[in-house]
Amino acid sequence: VSPALADRTIVLVGLMGAGKSSIGRRLANRLHLPFADADVEIERAAGLSIPDIFETYGEEHFRDGERRVIARLLDGERKVLATGGGAYMDPESRQRIEERGISIWLRASLEVLVGRCLRRNNRPLLQRGDPATILGELMDKRYPVYAEARLVVDSGDNPHDIVIEDIVTRL
Ligand code: S3P
Repeated sequence: VSPALADRTIVLVGLMGAGKSSIGRRLANRLHLPFADADVEIERAAGLSIPDIFETYGEEHFRDGERRVIARLLDGERKVLATGGGAYMDPESRQRIEERGISIWLRASLEVLVGRCLRRNNRPLLQRGDPATILGELMDKRYPVYAEARLVVDSGDNPHDIVIEDIVTRL
């Protein structure tokens, strides 16, 4: 990316299980930048876990909070920011991310996503039916939008350190 973008926050987008949080944390270390996880910040602001926010207030309320948290995190110092899988689907957040950040889509295959999500299934969207079917539907709907990100990085079968070096060389 161009030197003009060198002071921008790096924003990781992609589906649940793509590795946004774990790769983000390590990428931040590697670049000596602070790390923020939008899901964690939403939970902190609400004083509730994401499943509890969904259950008590519904998805729309969660999305409103998510939009505010993303805006706030993009305002602050340069950092690596892991977003929740739905954040980049919000037109307002997407525009803000493109204006203020460097978006990176961590792309992975359905098999990889399903495997990772089943290992730790605390995602409300995946409680609504068969997780593999839901992830497949989300892929169809979201991948064309994620593809608008500035960089696309395959996070699927590669170990995280390879993904991180791939990102660093392309920044
Ligand atoms: C969501 C993804 C989750 C979390 C919420 C909704 C989504 O984040 O924000 O459960 O719409 O894809 P992760 O992608 O970090 O799991």
